[in-house]
Amino acid sequence: MSYNLHHPTTTTAEFHTAKTTFSTRFRKIRQQTECICKPLEIEDYVVQPVVDVSPPKWHLGHTTWFFETMILLPYFADYKVFDANYNYIFNSYYESIGARVIRTDRGNLSRPSVENVYQYRKYVDQAMEAFLQTNYPDEVASILELGLQHEQQHQELLVTDIKYILGNNPLFPPYLKVDQTAKSEVKTSKWISIDEGVYEIGFEGEGFCFDNELNKHKVYLNTYQIASELVTNREYLEFMNEGGYENFRHWHSEGWDWVQKNNSKAPMYWYFIENQWHNYTLNGLQVVDLNAPVTHINFYEAFAFASWSGKRLPTEAEWEVANGYFEWGKRWEWTQSAYLPYPGFTKADDATGEYNGKFMVNQMVLRGASVATAENHSRPTYRNFFQTNLQWQFTGIRLAQ
Ligand SMILES: [Fe+2]
Repeated sequence: MSYNLHHPTTTTAEFHTAKTTFSTRFRKIRQQTECICKPLEIEDYVVQPVVDVSPPKWHLGHTTWFFETMILLPYFADYKVFDANYNYIFNSYYESIGARVIRTDRGNLSRPSVENVYQYRKYVDQAMEAFLQTNYPDEVASILELGLQHEQQHQELLVTDIKYILGNNPLFPPYLKVDQTAKSEVKTSKWISIDEGVYEIGFEGEGFCFDNELNKHKVYLNTYQIASELVTNREYLEFMNEGGYENFRHWHSEGWDWVQKNNSKAPMYWYFIENQWHNYTLNGLQVVDLNAPVTHINFYEAFAFASWSGKRLPTEAEWEVANGYFEWGKRWEWTQSAYLPYPGFTKADDATGEYNGKFMVNQMVLRGASVATAENHSRPTYRNFFQTNLQWQFTGIRLAQ
């Protein structure tokens, strides 16, 4: 899969300010990852139900490996690796960092134990805390920033992967122990009109962004309208009830093949029980909340729904230009834009150059953020991207016309 990464565009002066806050941010972000895993039983840490879902134990180790490999080994004198085997099991996809366990085998890692992995985290955290007190060079600050952003991306993946693991357990155990069964309010969607013209999209200015958000550039947009609200479960259910999954006319050829092959009839986690649609949520199996935004739909489904409703998905440029006029952040929103480099896109020569660029094929862009996204980890220029058949993320639909 596919998460985004890196290339801080921060200036030297900002780095000096950033350095003073790194210790605090490092501790907070590392703790948050462990906090997400708190409700898990030990058995939940190891399961890998499908290739796209990584076991929580692997996320815990991999995010730690990132700091050990990218910062401690090259920059902290006399640092000793915790375990020489860990580079092999916790490297995700960095060809430049050597051999690694294949993705499908992450669920076979019954060893190291969960306890060992937590010890690994502690060992690396202590070394990092010591390292952060040293007078390290500015170049490290950008990798540090990347490591923190990387860990936050894995926090989102942890939530989505934990949901998949528990949601595919036949007993549907809830992740959250608190009952949050309150239903969503009705919100009427309005059309937001944007005039034709030349606009600018892409990241510019201070702060962090990933390399795929660069460079800021001009785009021409025709007049369009974009919905103020996301598509709800109620609206999606109408599409289902009117035979949306049975009519090839709404689907791409690939999407239709996917429907046939999987006998798809509803979003992921939906179950028809005793004449009522239920869905698995982080609070366990619930009757579908009709006013909540639909989620866990793939690109094929988002496209088919838009076609059925006589509308379309927005392009990523349309989404970005209009983003100040609507609320976003509950669902990653599918766009009809293929994930491609922006004009002037460049990749770093080191391992961090493997973060985004090599995934720019056969994926579609999602904009926004989701309920699983880490705090302070979204912005209007952020480009997420997934393959067209994947449903396990907290995805959603905003229509355009
Ligand atoms: Fe990663």
